[in-house]
Order: sequence, then structure tokens, then C-alpha cells
Amino acid sequence: MYQSKIAGLGSYVPENVVTNDDLSKLMDTNDAWIQERTGIKERRHIKKGDGNSTSVMGFKAAKIAIERAKISKDDIDLIVFATLSPDLYFPGCGVMVQELLGINNTCPAIDVRDQCSGFVYAISVADQFIKTGMYKNVLVIGSENHSGGLDFSDRGRSISVIFGDGAGAAVLTRSNHIGQGILSTHLHSEGKHVMELSQKGPSTEYWVPQIIADNPQGDDIPYYPYMNGPFVFKHAITRFTEVILEGLKANGLEIDDINMLIPHQANLRISQFIQQKLKLSDDQVFNNIQKYGNTTAASIPIALTEAWEQGKIKDGDTVVLAAFGSGFTWGSVIMEW
Ligand code: UT7
Repeated sequence: MYQSKIAGLGSYVPENVVTNDDLSKLMDTNDAWIQERTGIKERRHIKKGDGNSTSVMGFKAAKIAIERAKISKDDIDLIVFATLSPDLYFPGCGVMVQELLGINNTCPAIDVRDQCSGFVYAISVADQFIKTGMYKNVLVIGSENHSGGLDFSDRGRSISVIFGDGAGAAVLTRSNHIGQGILSTHLHSEGKHVMELSQKGPSTEYWVPQIIADNPQGDDIPYYPYMNGPFVFKHAITRFTEVILEGLKANGLEIDDINMLIPHQANLRISQFIQQKLKLSDDQVFNNIQKYGNTTAASIPIALTEAWEQGKIKDGDTVVLAAFGSGFTWGSVIMEW
């Protein structure tokens, strides 16, 4: 049995900054509401013609992670790509990144859904392949193009102000030192809450021509996301805390052992609630939602990359990743850096 560790991290966000004031010109919202309820000051949106897409942003983040891991692109044995906003209905973005990177082998590419928990799920998938010895280097990517699919009218204001675009990536590699790297991953789902945070179409149940035929006035638009915000918020704070404690317990660790918690950047109020509940200090929790909004599968790898770049994660640190999102799905990763 082998162990995996993160050998390289990278992130990419589009240059185009969209402030709360910018959004208030499109819909009935304002900077005070957005900051008070979510902590978000600005986010990045792909600009038409800037060449970005979910796979392209994932590729840009991956290129940095591969360089930092000091491996060749052709050393990659597997790609795991997490997104809810793929470029195409099919195939997934994993194969597109393989082509963009110019990988000369025929390594497999898996696309993972699982929305805001996508990166945690993807890391867990990668970890299993390394543990069994089947693969040595796995490229894990989380990337989202939310701005391409949001309703920027008044009707969409409670959702569209939250989400942003961006990508993050990690190279997971076989660790030479047992005890260093990913100690365990913990995944959960509860499908009874499917519709509380969902987007119906385009899908086989909500195919575009049928949507238009059923809904000539365009009142209910099933190809925009729906979220029961307060309901999701309540479940998030419970599940985040549970799954962090579950991960610590599995490794005989205490809350005090956490050097850095990187929560999925859902809402600054959610992160603050978890911090208070676990009695963590400010330097034990990393947040950057203020600059990027909620980038779903990309939020953890972007935050992890920034925390590492800022020297906030050091060798031997206990690092915890935790996520909650649509499905509902949730999970945690416990690592020794
Ligand atoms: O990442 C995956 C998981 N996602 C989450 O964890 C998100 C969880 N939920 C949330 O973060 C919060 O529920 C939101 C930020 C989405 C919403 O905050 P809230 O405090 O739960 O607000 P609310 O939906 O209860 O709405 C409060 C009021 C309503 O007006 P009335 O009915 O009180 O008059 C809304 O119409 O705020 C209004 N509102 C807005 N006002 C200005 C909703 N969106 C906006 C807006 N600007 N953008």
C-alpha cells in the first residue's frame, strides 16, 4: 500500500474583475447586501474573446502545478477533472486538458461532478489509485465557468452575485515517506436534497427544445441554477463541522492539531461559523472568497495554492480540506504536508 502527497499546486483566474457595484448595474442588488450576507467584494468572470473556458482555465492551472511538481506532462498517469460547468455536454473536460497539455501518452481522464465537493471527491479518487499502486502521478483539477450560465436579471440575484470563474490544480504523486501526504479522505452524500441546489437543464429530462415548448413565456427557466439558500446554509454548517471532526478522529488528531483549514469558499459567513464552532484562530483558516466569490470545484485548489504561495503551509503541517455542496455532497481530506 502506498501513500499520495501533493507535489505541485497551481491556480488561474480570468483577468476580468467584476465588483459588487458592477453587478448592481445589471440587477437589483448592492455592495452592502452582498458583503454583509456573503463577504464577497469582487469575483472574476471570463470575458468574451479572452480565450478562456472551463478546460482552458483548468489547463492553465495544471501547467503551473506540473512545473512545480517538477515532472513532465508525459509522467501523468491519470487526469481527474472536477466541474459542474463543462465546456460541452459531453465529452468531459479531462480529455480536453490532456490535449491542451499535449500529453503524448494515452492516460485515462475521469470527470467528477459533485459540484462544490468536486475537488475533495477528485482528490479522494486520485488518492485511491495511488494507494493501490496503479498510478504514480495524478493530475487533479477543479475549474468552473459560472458566468457563462447565470441569470444576471433581478430574478437570479440571490445566486448570481455569489459565483465566480477560475481554476485550481494539484499534482498528486506517490510519497516516499510513509506518514507524509494524504492521511485519509471522507466522502458523503444525501440525495434526498437533490432539488435544493440544482440546475435542471439542459439534460435528458429538460432538453432545450422541450423547455422552450413547455415554457413559452420563459417564466421558469430550468437552465439557470436554483438554490434554497437558507436551507443549504443550515445543512452546510452542520456537515462541514461533522466531516472535519470525522477526519481528525480517524487519524487520532485533535482540533488543536489543525495548522491550516481550507474550507470550500461557499460563503464567508459559513467559514466564520465553522471557525467559531471549532474555536480556530484566524491563522488556522484560509479564506479568499472576498476576491473570487464561490468558484465551486475550483475554490479549494485556488485557496490551497494561495495559502501555499503565501508561506502559510509548511512541511509537517496538518492541513484539512473540507467541502459541502449540491447533492447534497460533502467531504474532507486530512493531510500532513
Ligand atoms: O457552495 C455550495 C453551497 N452553497 C452555500 O453554502 C450557500 C448557502 N446559502 C447562502 O450563502 C445564503 O443563503 C445566501 C447568501 C445565498 C442568501 O443569504 P440569506 O441571508 O440566506 O438571504 P435570503 O435568501 O434569506 O434573502 C434575504 C432577503 C430577501 O428579501 P426579503 O424577502 O427579506 O425582502 C431576498 O429577496 O434578501 C433578498 N436578496 C437580495 N437583496 C439584495 C436576495 N438576493 C439579494 C441580492 N441583493 N443579491
